[in-house]
Amino acid sequence: MISHFDFLASIYDRFIGQSDPARLQKILDLPTPGMLLDAGGGTARVSAQLKNFVSHLVICDSSRKMLGQAKSKGGLSPIQSHVEQLPFADNKFQRIMVVDSFHHFSDHLRAVIELLRVLESGGKLVIEEPDIARIPVKLVALAEKLLLMQSRFFSPDRIRDMFLTAGGNVSIEYDGNYTAWIIIEK
Ligand SMILES: C[S@@+](CC[C@H](N)C(=O)[O-])C[C@H]1O[C@@H](n2cnc3c(N)ncnc32)[C@H](O)[C@@H]1O
Repeated sequence: MISHFDFLASIYDRFIGQSDPARLQKILDLPTPGMLLDAGGGTARVSAQLKNFVSHLVICDSSRKMLGQAKSKGGLSPIQSHVEQLPFADNKFQRIMVVDSFHHFSDHLRAVIELLRVLESGGKLVIEEPDIARIPVKLVALAEKLLLMQSRFFSPDRIRDMFLTAGGNVSIEYDGNYTAWIIIEK
């Protein structure tokens, strides 16, 4: 089945624009000698800028075309997979990032369990999400509904509760604008 992201892949980076990953880098405690998983990483728009701060960068995404764009950036391993069923051993990654993707996952509780499973004990997982309490983000959510994207936004507190239930230590940071970081330590 062709996804919205297969359709958008070739223009995605230009459409969304560059990101400044400085805050994310700080929250993820990079550099680290370990492996970083970018789950729902798409074109590696964000994580390609972090690849020199880790020993190895793996991008997992359900869209083959988004991963094709990621691969063209070089220096990373693209893996086509749903985050709800990750093809990795337990405790494989020292760091995991999920940027602007959590609301696109189809089975959130399953995704939470899988992300925690592949995170090393002592590792760190950061979910960067638009804060659905903010009006512009509500408008984006409405637009995605009209485009039949099947996204489902949760508040940062609700995401924190999902990870607390699954067994992580969780804190939240806000940028005071539209972005929240849910920070999970295993
Ligand atoms: C809005 S894009 C964000 C991409 C990237 N993280 C960024 O910030 O540029 C959402 C990505 O999540 C991927 N995605 C959606 N559902 C997924 C799932 N269940 N498992 C893995 N990837 C998924 C999509 O294919 C898409 O590439």
